[in-house]
Order: sequence, then C-alpha cells, then structure tokens
Amino acid sequence: MFQLKNVTRQFGKKVAVNSVTFDILQGQMVGIIGRSGAGKSTLLRMINRLNDVSSGSIHFGDLQVSSLRGAALRSWQRDCAMIFQQFNLVPRLDVLTNVLLGRLNHRSTVLSILNMFTREERIMAIGALERLGIEQTALQPAGTLSGGQQQRVAIARALMQQPKMLLADEPIASLDPLNAKIVMDRCATSTSAMASPSSPTCTRWILRAIIASASSAWRMEASFSMVRRRS
Ligand SMILES: Nc1ncnc2c1ncn2[C@@H]1O[C@H](COP(=O)(O)OP(=O)(O)OP(=O)(O)O)[C@@H](O)[C@H]1O
Ligand SMILES: [Mg+2]
Repeated sequence: MFQLKNVTRQFGKKVAVNSVTFDILQGQMVGIIGRSGAGKSTLLRMINRLNDVSSGSIHFGDLQVSSLRGAALRSWQRDCAMIFQQFNLVPRLDVLTNVLLGRLNHRSTVLSILNMFTREERIMAIGALERLGIEQTALQPAGTLSGGQQQRVAIARALMQQPKMLLADEPIASLDPLNAKIVMDRCATSTSAMASPSSPTCTRWILRAIIASASSAWRMEASFSMVRRRS
C-alpha cells in the first residue's frame, strides 16, 4: 500500500500542498483533480522526491519514501517513474535514444556515460514506441515532433523504467481522443498508476478521484469511487 500522511509543502510563505492524507492500494489508478495552482504537480514531485516534503510522511509498503537518501533514494526514483507536464525530452537526441534514457537508472555509470544500450533494450524501446503508435518517429530528433507525439515519447521513456509506480502529470493534455485512449490504456495496464488529470476524459479510466483544492487544505475526505469503464 502507498500512503501519504499529513503531507505539506511550503515555498516560503506559500502553502502549495496542505496536510494531505490518503492511501492507494496496489494496482489502483487514482486521479488528482483540481484547478490550476491547486498543488497537483507539487504533490507528484514530492512522491518521486524531486521536491522534499516540508512536513508529513510518504510510505510505499515498509519504505519511508520521504526520508530516503543516497542510493536508496535513487532506487526509489527508478521504481517511481514520472511523466512530466512539460515532457522533459532532450530535443536534439533522436526519439529512440530519448526512450532508452528511461533505462539509465538500471545501468552502470560507465555504460551510461558511453550511452551504450543492449539489443534487448533497443527492442524494448521500439516495442514501447509501437504500442504508443509512434515507432515511425524513432530516428527523428525529439524536438521536431508535435506536442502529442512528444508526450507519447515521454510516456514510452517512463515505461522503459519498468516502474512499480507511475506518476503522470496531465498525461493526455496534448492528445486527441484516439491517442488519449491508447495512452491511458497503456498507463492502466503497466502498473499501479497515478495521474493528475484536468481532462474529464481521464475519469473513464481512473478508479478513484481525489479533489485538490487551492484553499487552505486539500479536501481529501471528498475522495470518491468511480466505476471503471473502458470504452
Ligand atoms: N518552486 C516553486 N517555488 C515557488 N512556488 C511554487 C513552486 N512550485 C510550485 N509553486 C506554487 O505552488 C502552487 C501549486 O503549484 P503546482 O504547480 O503544484 O499546481 P498545479 O495544480 O500542478 O497547477 P497546474 O494545473 O496549472 O499545472 C502554485 O501557487 C505555484 O505557484
Ligand atoms: Mg501542474
């Protein structure tokens, strides 16, 4: 089970996330819904420890995620992949290499520096691109792709990490309905996942929605269950 207990994050005097508490069971796909500035991205960044919590704690099974340091922290960041709102691709590298970068945390420093990937890893990367419908872009510089294509490259890179948990920040914001369905199906089948959807489309996939509020406290008590409808 994944748990947040009274998690708060402040930036100076600004409280971005205020005393959030909730659980996610293994295999659940949970959506965080809330207005711009409500703290959705900040919450995801604390879960994969790009931001530290100001107070409170985050747990994944017996692991206290919020206090990890050094190798244990890197190991958690390997297990907890993040699809960023701004994609974070390397525009001058081709698509295939961008996807392969998802394997970096699984590799020795020397192989990483030399940018050497095995045949199996390349086959895995092309498979991920195929499943997202963009294998034809594999050799193109990532910066030349459309926004929706770049978003799918970022998703393929996250899936290459073979994570235990997938955090997706607005994963289908740039996609048309068909590609949104492909991406959400892919996220739903990969692992226990968590999205931060502003789009009502996402509610067809998520099992639970948690309401983020920009006011003094997140209304976590307002969580509700939704029936999963795959169509
Ligand atoms: N590094 C930072 N320094 C200062 N303030 C920050 C920082 N990161 C986020 N904030 C503030 O925290 C609040 C929450 O931001 P966050 O990006 O988490 O919102 P969001 O719900 O993801 O919004 P959106 O839907 O627009 O992406 C905002 O008021 C933002 O200005
Ligand atoms: Mg955001």
